[in-house]
Amino acid sequence: MNEPKDSSGGWDGYRTFCVERKEPESRTVTSFYLTAKDGRPLAPYKPGQFLGFKLDVPGHEKPVLRTYTISDGSGGATHYRLSIKREPPPPDQPDAPPGVSSNYFHDHVEAGSELQVRAPSGDFFLLEDGAVDGDGGDSGPVVLLSGGVGLTPMVSMLNHIVSNGAKRPVWFVHGVRNGDEHAFGAHVRGLAETHANVHAHIAYLEPGPGDVEGRDYDSAGVITMELLQSLVPGKDGDFYLCGPPPFMKALFNGLLDWGVAEGRIYYEFFGPATVLKESGAGDKADRKSASTVPGPGAAADGPVVTFKRSGVTVNWDPEIETILELAEANGVTPDFSCRAGVCHTCMCALIEGEIEYVNDDAFLPDEEGQILICSSKPKTDITVDV
Ligand SMILES: Cc1cc2nc3c(=O)[nH]c(=O)nc-3n(C[C@H](O)[C@H](O)[C@H](O)COP(=O)(O)OP(=O)(O)OC[C@H]3O[C@@H](n4cnc5c(N)ncnc54)[C@H](O)[C@@H]3O)c2cc1C
Ligand code: FES
Repeated sequence: MNEPKDSSGGWDGYRTFCVERKEPESRTVTSFYLTAKDGRPLAPYKPGQFLGFKLDVPGHEKPVLRTYTISDGSGGATHYRLSIKREPPPPDQPDAPPGVSSNYFHDHVEAGSELQVRAPSGDFFLLEDGAVDGDGGDSGPVVLLSGGVGLTPMVSMLNHIVSNGAKRPVWFVHGVRNGDEHAFGAHVRGLAETHANVHAHIAYLEPGPGDVEGRDYDSAGVITMELLQSLVPGKDGDFYLCGPPPFMKALFNGLLDWGVAEGRIYYEFFGPATVLKESGAGDKADRKSASTVPGPGAAADGPVVTFKRSGVTVNWDPEIETILELAEANGVTPDFSCRAGVCHTCMCALIEGEIEYVNDDAFLPDEEGQILICSSKPKTDITVDV
């Protein structure tokens, strides 16, 4: 993945946060402002990073684990904001259950609710002056491209640029179905009106009867490369992408065809991994965006798995799908985010033994000896650096 690397600190495991307030941003997106229950300072985060949550959802035996981007904060000082889209059943499967976590947040998480939260992490964040990445990350132009709720990291990045008084030119280009679903519209438009370096373009896929061109949105239809090329001055910038897979795939390949250096395109998936490149092996198959922690399994006699740093050694349980789940079932809490082989948060060294991937769509690490424990299981006895 062409993403800058970072492993931010913060706190270990889960910390209790309280919901300070809850505010609708559109018909489908609601923001939640979180403060730490212990009153101690919050860990800083980089714009684009996310928090991990462990939710006790009624009717679910096991905790539900999800990640949500910090859509804004107060410099990490007093609160984090999340902005969560309510996920309905897929349009072609109206009888399927709606999204577990997002609907739980919308319907049951209120001011005063407590949440178990992992520290900010993630390697999709705004590169700035002095960033380690060799190709990009300077103070040059930034293009923030988002579809749907994929705007949350972009709003965080935009707010950061503006609040730091940075003068680097930024293009915020956002596609969304219509005004009903459009979050942060007035906020982004306001920033563009008051900051000469900020440019915004909003594309509504299907404008609604009350949506006014020039006021609520700037163009109808999808964001095409032609549109993008007409907006941004050139291909010499840092391009950040987050949105649904077809959006990501079209724009990623469009940017490459245009001649944007691959090393300057940064992206994050909120959902299933998709092979982005046209020359790739095709689209992803199924990914479990829902992740639950299995309880400690019955007696197991599979290969021996040693989590070296944690000092835990257990037998592989065939009822369990991945090394990450085995770790969690035994009290080990490695870092993770997407649990889908996408974000590399769970990457660690395989010290001894052999593994196999159980998720064909995982983006395997380039680094030798590193494995994704969210997407693999042991083939032999193994020792991992967790
Ligand atoms: C790094 C990262 C950052 C993220 N940031 C954000 C963010 O800022 N804001 C945000 O809103 N989201 C964000 N997400 C996505 C978020 O983590 C969740 O994946 C999202 O909220 C959906 O979770 P859910 O539990 O509501 O849905 P799930 O329960 O996981 O369901 C997902 C979909 O599957 C459907 N489904 C469930 N069961 C079935 C079935 N049996 N048959 C058919 N369909 C079924 C549901 O109806 C739903 O449409 C982020 C994800 C990642 C990885
Ligand atoms: S948790 Fe994202 S790749 Fe493993």
